[in-house]
Amino acid sequence: MTTALDPSPAEIQARRDRLLSDIHAVTRQQVGYPVNQDFDYTPLLPLMQYSVNNVGDPFHPSNFRGNTHEIEREVIHRFAGLLRIAPADAWGYVTSGGVEGNRYGLYPARELFPNAMFYFSEETHYSVLKNVRVLNARHIMIRRQDNGEIDYREERSNDRNRPGEPHHRDGGQRGRRHRRDYQGPGR
Ligand SMILES: Cc1ncc(COP(=O)(O)O)c(C=O)c1O
Repeated sequence: MTTALDPSPAEIQARRDRLLSDIHAVTRQQVGYPVNQDFDYTPLLPLMQYSVNNVGDPFHPSNFRGNTHEIEREVIHRFAGLLRIAPADAWGYVTSGGVEGNRYGLYPARELFPNAMFYFSEETHYSVLKNVRVLNARHIMIRRQDNGEIDYREERSNDRNRPGEPHHRDGGQRGRRHRRDYQGPGR
């Protein structure tokens, strides 16, 4: 007899087929999230038969030898080039997702300036609020305007109230993520 925890191969196959068809249907209609569907991962499928793990620092040897640290370093150097950082000066790692990426962006800032104030828009991805709490960093969430952009007047008045205090701004995430927009630091 099969149970929910012990399905038969036919049940597993049927469930996988259903999942595939549901994901296919919703993906064709999905708008709003800035995700790319223009890829073909099928050449990578043979790698799915292994547990690959990039544990640790990609610039140090790992005792988990089934890793892709070499490719990870190439990715880091590619982004370093975009930021005009010489390869020899670049360090980093590829995170498993946006929440961790945001956290690692905030973490060295909090380490360098432990008392600094972090400013971000209420439209910023929720992970930034979560991360500043986890990092125990001082923070102020700035209201947004009706069009979704950060309220620049409130942002400036916060600056005026704290003259000379160090502060961090989340440059690329000042709001309107789902509105597919971006406010550069110039505003
Ligand atoms: C700007 C931004 N930050 C963070 C995240 C969270 O990403 P993840 O769920 O991969 O950690 C997302 C996800 O859509 C995002 O768009």
